[in-house]
Amino acid sequence: MTPSVQLSNGMQMPLLGLGCWQADDGKDVAVAVEAALLAGYRHIDTAYFYANEADVGRGIKAAIATGKVKRSDIFVTTKLPPIGMRPERVEKYLRKSLKALDLDYIDLYLVHHPVGFEEVDENDNMPLENPGTDKEKVKFDFSTDLIAIWKKMENMVELGLAKTIGISNFNPRQMRKITAIAKIPPTVNQVECHVYFQQKELREACKQHNIAVTAYGPLGSPGRKLFYEKQGKTIELPDLLRNPVVRLVSDKHERSAAQVLLRFITQEGIIVIPKSTNESRIKQNGDIFSFELDEVDRQALRSLDQGVAGTIFKFAEIFPGYEEHPECFF
Ligand code: A2P
Repeated sequence: MTPSVQLSNGMQMPLLGLGCWQADDGKDVAVAVEAALLAGYRHIDTAYFYANEADVGRGIKAAIATGKVKRSDIFVTTKLPPIGMRPERVEKYLRKSLKALDLDYIDLYLVHHPVGFEEVDENDNMPLENPGTDKEKVKFDFSTDLIAIWKKMENMVELGLAKTIGISNFNPRQMRKITAIAKIPPTVNQVECHVYFQQKELREACKQHNIAVTAYGPLGSPGRKLFYEKQGKTIELPDLLRNPVVRLVSDKHERSAAQVLLRFITQEGIIVIPKSTNESRIKQNGDIFSFELDEVDRQALRSLDQGVAGTIFKFAEIFPGYEEHPECFF
């Protein structure tokens, strides 16, 4: 059984989930989701923006069809895309996600980014100016109103379309803006979090507001190379899996470096969503609750924190012009 975290509304959220960003890398996402559920995962994290919700839905359905898992046992998260960041679009995009997933409700609906994009076309996640040129830039919607959007998010719970709602990539200031007016407070903030960027300040703010933290990129997102390669670029990424301290702890426990990184985060009380479409790595990542890191290991891993300098997701590179938006979170 995967341990879970109790959210502020009383719901249980499994500490480990399968991440699905870039789970479109030529692998069958549905097969990966089914394999994860059959391996004991009870939490799947996707997003409209990942353009794989229909495959995720097929995987959930296939797992349910085996009779080994029920819909009510599975915690499914999806997210309002940046092109849906207007109050009048929230319900439309949630209904589109539910249709693609073939689900009646979502367990957790997150605002994916505090920043809105122009909605040029409902299928165009990245509306671009000057596409394919060196002047390429995302078309941002500079009028993003987080409070008005949150009121609509609350409405999704009232309509029974979402069991709970939350935020993603929100900084402490943006989080306070929402909690100050919320009738239904956010239960989760999903952010980049791993040994090199341990998010101490944000975690403290989340604790004060009783908001659980979900860590994306817990392995340092080695697959991001692929994201850049698709754009004809090559990048060097810090390799958390080969960090000498991580390797020492991994040798001590006879566990893989990935298992150590995931166990560390979950022992800090943070939910993790490692992405994998490889069945043996899915199983390996799921097998992290049968060992414990001791205080010496945890202190050694805590000391790897580089603060903001350890950030791996560079949103100004992923979405050129991001920092010009008034709700840019960094
Ligand atoms: P793959 O899907 O081929 O397993 P993150 O969750 O930090 O974004 O990392 C996801 C990346 O890490 C993916 O490229 C994934 O590749 C890879 N990955 C997932 N699990 C492991 C593991 N146990 N060991 C090494 N790499 C892994």
